[in-house]
Amino acid sequence: MSLPWSIYRELWTPYPPAPQGDYLRGKVVVITGATSGIGLEATKQLAAASPSQMILAVRSVEAGEKVLQQIKASYKGLEGKVIHCDLQDFTSLKECVENIKRDYDRVDLLINNAGMNPNFDEGPYKSTIDGYERVFQTNVLAPLLMTFLLLPLLRRSNGPKVIFTGSDAHIFATHALIQTSVDNHQSIVGAYNDEGKYHQPARYFESKAS
Ligand SMILES: NC(=O)c1ccc[n+]([C@@H]2O[C@H](COP(=O)([O-])OP(=O)(O)OC[C@H]3O[C@@H](n4cnc5c(N)ncnc54)[C@H](OP(=O)(O)O)[C@@H]3O)[C@@H](O)[C@H]2O)c1
Repeated sequence: MSLPWSIYRELWTPYPPAPQGDYLRGKVVVITGATSGIGLEATKQLAAASPSQMILAVRSVEAGEKVLQQIKASYKGLEGKVIHCDLQDFTSLKECVENIKRDYDRVDLLINNAGMNPNFDEGPYKSTIDGYERVFQTNVLAPLLMTFLLLPLLRRSNGPKVIFTGSDAHIFATHALIQTSVDNHQSIVGAYNDEGKYHQPARYFESKAS
């Protein structure tokens, strides 16, 4: 699919530079997917803003520990923790949240960044251990569950913030999947779980539009 450059120009505008200073001083930050890509860069940028705690909720604890050591070495006094969290397994996600609740009484900033794009691994339809289509669970259900489960801690913050890493690719999603379900009085989750309605690359776009 090729699009006129004017569309790219309109949608992919340059972002302003990252803010400077200690705007996170004393704050407790939780970020998912901190081990690579956007999450890794965000973690480094946020660590520079003097949070008191950086909690890295990651699928690979080994990779997470490397990142934590790196930012702790760069920013003296920064504390943090690496916690295993596989978004394709709700038991793992719930254990991660319980782990956070054991050690922290508040969360100021939650960044739901981890996500997957099945177009990069040519992934066919697959279900998670919880019985949901994996892109839908990873990009939609799990970030929502993470947010709901952490609400009690977010409520204890003076200015809680929750960020979901979206994607400009959401503009390519048609709303047929959802609209058809609504029109037919069918479950939207059921539609996402219906293998016959799984199309690439649409599913990634749909997940980012949800
Ligand atoms: N790259 C782009 O052009 C782009 C553009 C717009 C938006 N985004 C969004 O930005 C976010 C980060 O993407 P990225 O480009 O930085 O990709 P990336 O480099 O592949 O990073 C994805 C991160 O998510 C983690 N992750 C994936 N599946 C997971 C799971 N089941 N449980 C826990 N963690 C999981 C990965 O952990 P592992 O290292 O263990 O796999 C990794 O840390 C995503 O939400 C993506 O949709 C990306």
